[in-house]
Formats: sequence, C-alpha cells, structure tokens
Amino acid sequence: MLSIVVLISGTGSNLRALLEASADAEYPARVIAVGADREAPGLAHAEEFGIPSFTVPFSSYDSREAWGAALLEQIRVWNPDLVVLSGLMRLLPPNVVEALTPNIINTHPAYLPEFPGAHGVRDAIRAGVEQTGASIIVVDNGVDQGPIIVQERIPVLPGDTEHELHERIKPVERRLLVQTVLDIANGLDLGALSTRRLPATIKE
Ligand code: GAR
Repeated sequence: MLSIVVLISGTGSNLRALLEASADAEYPARVIAVGADREAPGLAHAEEFGIPSFTVPFSSYDSREAWGAALLEQIRVWNPDLVVLSGLMRLLPPNVVEALTPNIINTHPAYLPEFPGAHGVRDAIRAGVEQTGASIIVVDNGVDQGPIIVQERIPVLPGDTEHELHERIKPVERRLLVQTVLDIANGLDLGALSTRRLPATIKE
C-alpha cells in the first residue's frame, strides 16, 4: 500500500479526489497525512475523512530554508512513500526537494513547459492560446520544470474567465492525479523519469 502525504495551500479539490479514491479498498494508495503552509480551507477535507493534518505557516519563519526544514520534519514524522504537492503555492527550498526526490510530484493547471509558475491559468488566457492543459510532474529544483509524468490538452473557450477555465482544468487534473498515484503504486519508476530532462527532439 503506497502511503502519501499531500501538501496544499487552497481548496484542496485534488486532495479530495485522492481521499475519495483511497476510500476504495481496491485502490492501492492511502493519504496518511495532509500538510499546509497556511490555514487552508482544504484541511477540512482531511478532517472529514479522519486524516491527520499539520500546518507549517510560511509566515512564522524567517526564511524559506527555515520553513522548509520545519515542513520536512513534519513530513518525516509520517515517513511517506510519496509526497503530492496539490496546490501548494510555495516553492520548496532545494534541500527539501533533494531529501524527497524523486518521490515528490506536483499538479499544474497548464500543459508544461507552457505557462509554469503560480498563474498558469491566467497566463494562458492572457497569451490568447486556443488550448492549454493539465500536467503532473516530478518536482525538481526548477519552477515546474521537472520531468512530465502525464499531461492532457484542454481547450480555452472564447470569453473564458480565469475561474471558468480553471474549473474545467481541475477535473482533468483530478483524474490524472488519481491515475498517476495508481501507476506509482503499481510500480511506475519516478527515478527513471527524473533523468529524462531534455525533450526527445533535442539532440546533444
Ligand atoms: C490546482 O489547479 C493546482 O494545479 C494548482 O492549484 C490548484 C489547486 O486546486 N497549482 C498550481 O498552480 C501550482 N503552480 P485545489 O486546491 O482545489 O486542489
């Protein structure tokens, strides 16, 4: 059984999808704890499902490194097989990524490497593209630059607001995340993905 710690900042709809999947005895993964960098509304999902949670407020620490060290300490209490960043809107300091890699994945509401960063949905709308997407990646020390595990295209409709487009992206993210965790539980080798840093089209 794959054990997971999920880290959130917001509403936690992706977290909820994992909690619902975990409720199925046949699903080979379980969320064992939920962490947040603030009093995130999504922590209520953990409470509803009886899953322990912890909060390491970014604002309580003098530096990103100090916050990261405290967060890592909390994660290690649970000794999870996998950490899922599910709307954690903070960059992890390098020593935290290095301690957890390659068993740390992130959901992103764009078709990476397009529109990385904190405003992937807004940036796609502003760029006027006709399609964007959803991606699940392995976390590395870049901003949304880690190896892509899976991704899917989603059309941008004329007149879409950021909220409307994000609400159409999120169900796809949820499906991809639940499937990715299943694949990892069934043996998908994240370490092998981690070495594939260049697009196949780039020749050295
Ligand atoms: C998701 O769309 C996730 O991909 C995004 O925040 C949302 C969280 O939703 N993350 C990022 O943009 C990270 N760069 P949720 O709290 O309802 O799961």
